Amino acid sequence: MKDKVAMVTGGSTGIGKAIVREFVANGVRVVFCGRRNDEGKKVEAEIRSIGGDVIFVTCDVTSGDQVKKVVETALEKFGRLDFGINNAGIMGENHPLHEYPEDIWDNVVNVNLKGAWLSMKYQIPEIIKTGGGAIVNVSSISGINGVVGINPYSAAKHGIIGLTKSGALEYAKKNIRINAICPGAVKTEILEELFHLAKDPIEAEKQLVKLHPLHRIASPEEIAKAAVWLCSDDASFITGVAIPVDGGYSAK
Ligand SMILES: NC(=O)c1ccc[n+]([C@@H]2O[C@H](COP(=O)([O-])OP(=O)(O)OC[C@H]3O[C@@H](n4cnc5c(N)ncnc54)[C@H](OP(=O)(O)O)[C@@H]3O)[C@@H](O)[C@H]2O)c1
Repeated sequence: MKDKVAMVTGGSTGIGKAIVREFVANGVRVVFCGRRNDEGKKVEAEIRSIGGDVIFVTCDVTSGDQVKKVVETALEKFGRLDFGINNAGIMGENHPLHEYPEDIWDNVVNVNLKGAWLSMKYQIPEIIKTGGGAIVNVSSISGINGVVGINPYSAAKHGIIGLTKSGALEYAKKNIRINAICPGAVKTEILEELFHLAKDPIEAEKQLVKLHPLHRIASPEEIAKAAVWLCSDDASFITGVAIPVDGGYSAK
């Protein structure tokens, strides 16, 4: 993977940040994005200080113009694009489906699902120009199973799998492999948010651990390794799948 170029959305924190670091460890140059400029610039400086060739660009993935700017930055600074990891996501609030506020529903679906589509829309023509590559969309176990209370999140994560499979069929002839990963619970900001929504956060964490047969919550690095492996030649015959990385959660 040395000297290849990746774009990672939502790369300043959690799983995205671990993916940026894993790419860098494999010699890949990375452009990553997020909405918070200070957070992104801090991570850019931190990774450059250990020798990583990375650039942060402020971007809201619900805006096509802003996503296009991230892809253009990869081309201007690194001259090519090989991989896209479409990871930016928000969980939204917890409400019964029939009471869910319409504006929050739209935002959750836009960030998670439209954001992945816009990213693919601008990544794909450039990956075709390099002769092929790989895209990994970050779905969730909530994209495989239903979840009470966060229905737009679950709907968007299911949608990501449909988008992944359709894209894989459409671009196989262009040598672009497109897959999704479906993480179980991972210790990041989004999970802290989920616990915060619970009446008893400590009990909520215990219950969540119990749902995973490996009986623990994943580290962001465990998810990052799966995402980067899917981009590597070791996964050269894998396309159009949604791989659970979930400690056995979805096997039940
Ligand atoms: N943690 C889990 O248990 C878990 C499980 C399954 C799936 N996932 C999925 O994994 C992905 C990463 O989540 P995480 O756990 O690492 O949580 P996180 O730390 O909250 O990461 C989410 C990232 O997305 C960025 N982001 C959010 N909205 C954005 C927008 N509109 N435009 C651009 N960037 C945006 C955030 O940066 P800014 O706020 O700066 O924009 C942040 O860097 C998400 O898609 C999530 O659904 C997480």
